[in-house]
Amino acid sequence: KVVAVIMVGGPTKGTRFRPLSFNTPEPLFPLAGQPMVHHPISACTRIPNLAQIFLIGFYEEREFALYVSSISNELRVPVRYLKEDGKPHGSAGGLYYFRDLIMEDNPSHIFVLNCDVCCNFPLPEMLDAHKRYGGMGTLLVIKVSAESANQFGELVADPITKELLHYTEKPETFVSDLINCGVYIFTPDIFRAIQDVSTHREDRGYSILMLTSSFYRTTIPSDFVRLDQDILSPLAGKKQFYTYETMNFWEQIKTPGMSLKCSALYLAQFRSISPHLLANGDGNKSAKIIGDVYVHPSAKVHPTAKIGPNVSISANVRVGAGARLISSIVLDDVEIKENAVVLHSIVGWKSSLGKWARVQADGDYNSKLGVTILGEAVTVEDEVVVTNSIILPNKTLNVSVQDEIIL
Ligand code: GDD
Repeated sequence: KVVAVIMVGGPTKGTRFRPLSFNTPEPLFPLAGQPMVHHPISACTRIPNLAQIFLIGFYEEREFALYVSSISNELRVPVRYLKEDGKPHGSAGGLYYFRDLIMEDNPSHIFVLNCDVCCNFPLPEMLDAHKRYGGMGTLLVIKVSAESANQFGELVADPITKELLHYTEKPETFVSDLINCGVYIFTPDIFRAIQDVSTHREDRGYSILMLTSSFYRTTIPSDFVRLDQDILSPLAGKKQFYTYETMNFWEQIKTPGMSLKCSALYLAQFRSISPHLLANGDGNKSAKIIGDVYVHPSAKVHPTAKIGPNVSISANVRVGAGARLISSIVLDDVEIKENAVVLHSIVGWKSSLGKWARVQADGDYNSKLGVTILGEAVTVEDEVVVTNSIILPNKTLNVSVQDEIIL
């Protein structure tokens, strides 16, 4: 048997996702109309002999309860949310904390996936490769541009045997353009390796001073263990870990801007694997659909509206006559009135756009204001234009704004 674990983190991890993480945990934010965590979960269902899927995080249980029960029924695979008590334990420490539950089906292999990555999750292929390589684990890796590599774990692999030879987490000086995708397969031996790290620390009365980006000092307790720094770095070059390189798409989803880009990637993937999820624009009552678009069945889109490419429209949204939506995510219960335009934007739950209003941005996913974001229940009055801006929840805009963060 095989089990899968998806690391969902907790509320402190979602701060870069503001203002969209105020009322929805980042892992449940919709990409291509499905919660972010839904994409790795549905990829897991392609693994042969999958017994269970665990989500491990430090969000409150109730935030995941509804999603977890509905997805378990839908996929007919048990999906359970496990909350780390008291404090986060790090990506490996969290896994270790729940080792008894993870091992209850006596699995031969354990997949571990970061929830904030967007890719095609080639899991069965990784399992086959891992069985050929042997060792304690195989990690998914990808080549990225040399300039962007330092945001990730950089690594060196043997070109023939694919063994992980060297691993450095977010190094200051360039090591390699091959990076860790945050998708792993392990044998149960991983628990012994994690245990060794914490025992080693306890033995030495160990506590490391960690300097975070805000120069906030914390001591790392012996049960805080990170998969990357504490396991992969010391065990690289010891014939324990191997790499599987993907040539397909891969992105990290740390900002709202990236969620727009990843939504486009998943919509494009639907085109080939589940085209029934895409709006097809058939019939004379449908709006004009361009490219890959998701429209929730409960949304009401006027036939003279024009939608796409890369648009996803959530539950109970109403789109008026002549409205134009391009490259945007529109969340539940939004109202978009006649002739309004939404371009490279995320429109928060229950917001409303007046007639001829424009909510737009230049679409530079990597810049802070490259995507316009309206928080929950923002009202943009008739004819008002909002450009490259972030608007916090419950604001009413009656004048146009540009390049602003409205608190
Ligand atoms: N349950 C739990 N508990 N989850 C955690 C914890 C924890 O204490 N800490 C982190 N996570 C989750 C995060 O939500 C995320 O899904 C994953 O573990 C990794 O998060 P980080 O440890 O913050 O690392 P990162 O995202 O900056 O970088 C990692 O992923 C990159 C790929 O996206 C590293 O492994 C990089 O090397 C890698 O390139």
